[in-house]
Amino acid sequence: MAARAAIVTGASSGIGLAIARLLGEEGHAVTLAARRPEKLEQAATGLEQAGLDVQAVAGNLGLEEDVQRVVAAHRERYGRLDVLVNNAGVGIGAPVGEIQTKRLDIQINTNFRSIPLFYRECLDMLEAAGAEHRRALVVNTASIAGKRGEAWLSVYAATKFAVVGWTQSMHKELAEKGIKSTALCPAFVDTPMTDFVKGQVDPDSMIRTTDIAEMVRGLLKLSPGCVVPEIIFDRPGGGLPFED
Ligand SMILES: NC(=O)c1ccc[n+]([C@@H]2O[C@H](COP(=O)([O-])OP(=O)(O)OC[C@H]3O[C@@H](n4cnc5c(N)ncnc54)[C@H](OP(=O)(O)O)[C@@H]3O)[C@@H](O)[C@H]2O)c1
Repeated sequence: MAARAAIVTGASSGIGLAIARLLGEEGHAVTLAARRPEKLEQAATGLEQAGLDVQAVAGNLGLEEDVQRVVAAHRERYGRLDVLVNNAGVGIGAPVGEIQTKRLDIQINTNFRSIPLFYRECLDMLEAAGAEHRRALVVNTASIAGKRGEAWLSVYAATKFAVVGWTQSMHKELAEKGIKSTALCPAFVDTPMTDFVKGQVDPDSMIRTTDIAEMVRGLLKLSPGCVVPEIIFDRPGGGLPFED
């Protein structure tokens, strides 16, 4: 059995890949999950070449059976879970009158519904880690849009508010079992997700994925008596650039 193990969703690029690398460097065996198999395999190969112990399990995490498959593969290969990172997410903008039901469902299912399912499926392993060292950790990637509503990104923002609220509830329900939960709430991060705005916002001025990973490194090092329910990553000047 690995000494420490983690699952990271949305691990094939951007924030998830940076957190997976950090967790590997900090001695975790890591199950990487994301939607497109080829892209995920490429990410896994890169981490393996850096000497890290990872496995890739592709799946659409909006589907319950795929969430269960990821957790089962992790359990079989590594047998324990110290850190769960619920990071997979998708943002599809639309004015309210043009919201498409399919896109509404994709965002709700990926950004929010997958998270309670992962908690439920992983609970026994998290409880075992919490009982062992009282520093089991679940990191849920929300967004700064989970702290204030956004025009045209209304569905995305609502799913991220749900992630923040869910994290607060889990904090109350599980922290005394040694399972800490933290919501990450970043403004624009330089990842493929922000490609749509890079004509207007210089990517070099955005938050870096390594900034997010460094805060997760800090979370790993906190003593059992300290919990951080939420971290907001803002940019100089504050606020999203399309906010008046
Ligand atoms: N970038 C930002 O400015 C920013 C700010 C605040 C919050 N966030 C949040 O940060 C998280 C990571 O995003 P990112 O910026 O790193 O973007 P990214 O590079 O596009 O990463 C998104 C990840 O989620 C995966 N994913 C999407 N839908 C999925 C599904 N149905 N099932 C499984 N995996 C799925 C993607 O896999 P595929 O590529 O194969 O679909 C990819 O690995 C998201 O939750 C996002 O909402 C991002």
